Amino acid sequence: MITFSQIPEIRLQLKAERNARHLVGFVPTMGFLHEGHLSLIKKAKQENDIVVLSIFVNPTQFAPSEDLDRYPRDLQHDALLAQQAGCDIVFVPPVDEMYPSGFLSYVTVNELSTVLEGEFRPTHFKGVTTVVLKLLNIVQPDVAYFGQKDVQQSIILKKMIADLNLPVRIDVVPTIREADGLAMSSRNVYLDPGQRKNATVLHRSLLLAETNIALGEHDPKKIVDAMTAMILEHNPTQIDYVKIVDAQNLQEKHILQSGDTIVLPLAVRFGATRLIDNIILTVK
Ligand code: PAF
Repeated sequence: MITFSQIPEIRLQLKAERNARHLVGFVPTMGFLHEGHLSLIKKAKQENDIVVLSIFVNPTQFAPSEDLDRYPRDLQHDALLAQQAGCDIVFVPPVDEMYPSGFLSYVTVNELSTVLEGEFRPTHFKGVTTVVLKLLNIVQPDVAYFGQKDVQQSIILKKMIADLNLPVRIDVVPTIREADGLAMSSRNVYLDPGQRKNATVLHRSLLLAETNIALGEHDPKKIVDAMTAMILEHNPTQIDYVKIVDAQNLQEKHILQSGDTIVLPLAVRFGATRLIDNIILTVK
C-alpha cells in the first residue's frame, strides 16, 4: 500500500494506473475506520483493480459549534486496517493541500441539502459536496463507494454527479451494524455505556416501522409516532427528526402507496452525541 499526501504525486500514480487500463475504485472517508468503511474497501477491491482510500477530516463540513477538533483520529491503525482490507493507495492530504489560502470555490446541491440534516446542519452538505467533488477530480475513479448510513449524503452526491456530468458511478453500500443493531459510526466512541445501550433503540424503531408498513400501515404520521414513542422510552437528549420521505427528492410523504420507494431517516442525540440512521424500502 502506498500513501500520498500531495495532489500532484497521487495524480501521477493514478495516471499510470489508468494508462494500464486499471479500474479504480475510490472510498472517501474521514478516517477512524470501522467495519462499515472496511466493507466499502472490500467491495471496491472485488470490483476494481485498484482501491484508493482517502482519509481527510474535512473542516468545511463542520459548523464552528461541531466536533471538528475532537473528531477521532488514528492514522496508524487506519493504515493497518485499510491494508488488511485490500486498499492499494491511501490519500491523506493536509488541510492546506485541499484548501490552500485564498480558496473561494464551493459547490452546492440546492433543495436536497436544506432538508433533514440540512435543517440542523445548514452548511454541512456544501462542505461535503465541495470536498467530494475535489476528491473525485483528484482521483478520477471509475466507481466511488459510500455507506447507506449517510443516506442523504449519497442522494445529494448522486445528484451532483448527474447534474455536473461527472464520469463516475456511485455505489451505496448497506449499513454495517454492531451485533445489537447500532449502526457503525466513528462517533459511537463518544457514547458512555448507558447512552450506548439506549442508542440501540434507533435500529429497533426502524424495524418497528418496517413491520408496521409490511402489516399495511400507510399513514406516515402513525408510523413516526410509534417510532418516536419507542425512542422516547430510552432517554434521548433530543430527537432532531424522525421522518418518512421520498427516496428521490427527500420530500416528506403524507400517505404511503404501493410501489413507493421511501427512506426513513432519523437523527437523535444521546448526551452530546448526535446519531443518524435510516432504512430504505419499497412499500408493497
Ligand atoms: O461520509 C464521510 O465520511 C464524509 O462526509 C466524506 C464523504 C468522506 C466527505 O468528507
